[in-house]
Amino acid sequence: MAATVAPVSRTTIPGLPLPDLYARVSRHVPAIEWPALAPDIEAILRLKRERNAVILAHNYQAPEIFHTVADIVGDSLALAREAVNVDADVIVLAGVHFMAETAKLLNPSKTVLIPDMGAGCSLADSITAEDVRGLRAKYPGVPIVTYVNTSAAVKAESDLCCTSGNAVAVVKSLNAPRVLMIPDEFLAQNVQAEIPEVEILTWAGHCEVHERFTPADIRDVRDSYPGVTVIAHPECPPEVVAESDFSGSTAMMMDFVVEKRPKQVVLVTECSMADNIAAQNPDIEFIKPCNMCPHMKRMSLRNIRRSLETMTHEVTVDPALADRARAAVERMLQVRTR
Ligand code: 13P
Ligand code: SF4
Repeated sequence: MAATVAPVSRTTIPGLPLPDLYARVSRHVPAIEWPALAPDIEAILRLKRERNAVILAHNYQAPEIFHTVADIVGDSLALAREAVNVDADVIVLAGVHFMAETAKLLNPSKTVLIPDMGAGCSLADSITAEDVRGLRAKYPGVPIVTYVNTSAAVKAESDLCCTSGNAVAVVKSLNAPRVLMIPDEFLAQNVQAEIPEVEILTWAGHCEVHERFTPADIRDVRDSYPGVTVIAHPECPPEVVAESDFSGSTAMMMDFVVEKRPKQVVLVTECSMADNIAAQNPDIEFIKPCNMCPHMKRMSLRNIRRSLETMTHEVTVDPALADRARAAVERMLQVRTR
């Protein structure tokens, strides 16, 4: 896993005229469907000006969100870094709940909205604050690194956070012989493979999207497409990462593809990643398999528009734990990734 390369966020260009915006997504949105989407896009662009709002969108958002209305796109680390710098009054987070909560923690004076409160995450659901207190009691003195894909309550019980973009650097920064890395078991095992000198203890949480990939999937694709480049997200099982040519956060995957320009590539991750890169790189062929995240896919142009019209759903963090959760995220942001 090339975790020492810092992932980047990109500022998109949502102020273009509608025909130019359509050109950006025409490979993924059939012309017949555009008239149904264009009014929502126009309304969102207007509402962003009226509300003084920006849209932060995760790399797993569908192309019609990612390439038309998003102001900033990136992986979890980039979205956290960008949230700190937002000047606008309102942040709409086109992603999942823990990302909106992280933005609120890092920029508490802003109104943070998520278009659908049900946009959760199987990793965030896998562990509670009480579980973390139990681990702390069982392993006294062992630092606890918590993946950002968790609730603020879980972050508040942790020493610091990490993302898939900085996990190795975060663990190394502790200079500890033993580290608890929770709740993603596979991410922890993939980091362990990179830092054998540190003993990494973990938790049995999994991403429901990435846990389904198998080494047989990779071997099948290599048999069918000799020479194909395989890139796997580190939330995949270690046997899948071991069969891959590169592993990194979603932004690292994008950077790798755009820089190396493989002729054929498979992105072992959420399906919108390939669509979002393909929209701007027609010379690269993206091969399946990929899996959909049902939580990320709760976002739509329609509910982003409604969110800005009605200023819902506002994401807040319990003041009793906000300071401790913020400290864990801020400690992560202080770790240098290059
Ligand atoms: P990154 O974008 O940080 O790689 O995370 C992937 C993910 O699953 C977010 O939910
Ligand atoms: Fe959570 Fe996995 Fe969906 Fe990311 S892709 S939000 S880790 S379930």
